[in-house]
Amino acid sequence: MQIAIDGPAGAGKSTISKFVASEMGYLYIDTGAMYRAIGYKALENNISLDESEKIDAMAKESEIELKITDHGQSIYLDGKDVTGKIRTPEVSMAASKVSAIGGVRRSLVELQRKIAGSNNVIMDGRDIGTVVLPDAEIKIFLTASAEDRAMRRYLELKEKGTETSYQAVLEDMQKRDYQDSHRAESPLKAADDATIIDTSGQTLGESVQLIVDFIKSRVQA
Ligand code: DC
Repeated sequence: MQIAIDGPAGAGKSTISKFVASEMGYLYIDTGAMYRAIGYKALENNISLDESEKIDAMAKESEIELKITDHGQSIYLDGKDVTGKIRTPEVSMAASKVSAIGGVRRSLVELQRKIAGSNNVIMDGRDIGTVVLPDAEIKIFLTASAEDRAMRRYLELKEKGTETSYQAVLEDMQKRDYQDSHRAESPLKAADDATIIDTSGQTLGESVQLIVDFIKSRVQA
């Protein structure tokens, strides 16, 4: 069984996917974390995000692993745990930029398909239902208004102690959504056979429940 969850930033994809994975014993694959790891590495190595060829070469020689630990899932880049470093606003923007590079996408899509293998998986991202797992049995396109998504992300950052404003988060998110849905390679869009779920006006808890019920009903059908 493969479940694909796509949608714009802050729609609640990862919270929902983690919950479903633990409830149903599925493997959760956070593909955004992989693009974040490459964006982080480019920033760390002072490689300009416009230097596509350099970033492509860097991605090809990078080792990315997702490991299940006592605290959930961790992402390792070249053998080092970078989980705590990839959720900053700078890395979000860098991830969005490097994700537009065709070669980077091809390397990561290959890795994503390899990890999915023959496991029961729930994978979230931007191109899972359209490109990575086109035969997934369940495809969900999760969305919400930009204002709702920005408010959720703002509260999340605030809780972690990151200093920012709601307005800055909203502007970053709108910029990232635009980049992600207007790039030439695998832009963010709903697969033709995806179920579109809009969680505007709902709390994260309400939307998690809605989607878990939807997935369970489809799995049992
Ligand atoms: O899901 P996220 O916010 O962690 O993703 C970070 C960036 O990575 C996002 O702005 C676009 C890119 N991305 C992508 O292009 N394709 C994916 N499957 C997942 C993420």
